[in-house]
Amino acid sequence: MPARIVTPTPEAIAEAAERLQNGGLVALPTETVYGLGANALDTQAVAQIFAAKGRPSTNPLIVHVADVEAARALVSEWPPLAEKLAQAFWPGPLTLVLPKADTVPSIVTAGGQTVGVRVPAHPVALELLHAAGVPIAAPSANRSEEVSPTTAQHVADSLGEFVDDLLILDGGPCSVGLESTVLDVTTGDVPRILRPGMVTAQMLHEVVGEVLEGSASNRDVGPERSPGQMVRHYAPHFPVILVTSTEFRTMPLGGCGVLNYSAIFPRYQQCKLHQIHYNPGGYRTYFQMPEKPEKYAARLYRGLRELDQLKTITRIVIELPPDAPEWAAVHDRLRRAAAPKEGA
Ligand code: TXA
Ligand code: MG
Repeated sequence: MPARIVTPTPEAIAEAAERLQNGGLVALPTETVYGLGANALDTQAVAQIFAAKGRPSTNPLIVHVADVEAARALVSEWPPLAEKLAQAFWPGPLTLVLPKADTVPSIVTAGGQTVGVRVPAHPVALELLHAAGVPIAAPSANRSEEVSPTTAQHVADSLGEFVDDLLILDGGPCSVGLESTVLDVTTGDVPRILRPGMVTAQMLHEVVGEVLEGSASNRDVGPERSPGQMVRHYAPHFPVILVTSTEFRTMPLGGCGVLNYSAIFPRYQQCKLHQIHYNPGGYRTYFQMPEKPEKYAARLYRGLRELDQLKTITRIVIELPPDAPEWAAVHDRLRRAAAPKEGA
């Protein structure tokens, strides 16, 4: 059966909650990206997530909960640092990595002793968590390595053929658009960013003081710290080339799909595909990106997915946005999208 996208009415939420309670999968909106959810305490249910995504079993899942109390039930320690961060950023796009409680099945944590937990800020996710009454393990609702979904339709496009009769709660386009910041708080007094997100190092610093950051390539994080941080991730199927604004102005763009940062099109035409025919060189297709990092982040995956579906291009060129701290998460995802394919 194909995927079913539904409006999150009380009846639809109840159906989704029942599916979760019965060991099934449900795709749910969060403020970051759509997730593919299962009851985190049910090993067999969680195993279906790995199968549907083609995800390596070495990559742990984030567990979503309704509130701090539910988060505390999943961990064996809740240090003052975690309390401070939860008070400041939950509900919201911050995942805290903490020592796991015995009740968390090892499939969720990929055999590790820590668990990632967060309270999502999307009202539909929170309603579902309350209705189901179980913690929800949910990775992004895409096949492994693909660009994460920021609309219900993206989920259907990615997973429709891999999950029979998938129920997708439609919560509209995700407002944040990039995956949560993953923060290791098992490191003592100084937490460490394992995956940058729109809760930035600066925002964390203002709440807890010193914060460590992983390197751009995440090489220093290493497989044992955050196994999911493969360099190539969040990637379209066309090759992606990152260029500076100076390079962008002079390079030939025939046959390219372009995410441009420079204002080529008027503001009211932002975030739509603009196809222009040039001779020689064929079509160029532009997706004009917004100027501010929050808006850019919210549109990035949609832009990549729309370009990736075109028949008229052979590669994707991305004009890099400014190199400033508030753009760290965007730059991280752009680098991963452009990383060479394994074996290529
Ligand atoms: O915004 C998000 O985080 C979305 C939504 C659905 O909440 N979820 C998401 O999940 O992006 P996923 O599975 O696509 O990415 C989870 C990341 C992976 O890089 C994984 O390795 C890391 O979090 N992670 C999860 N648990 C961890 C743990 N115990 N220790 C270290 N890293 C962990
Ligand atoms: Mg993912």
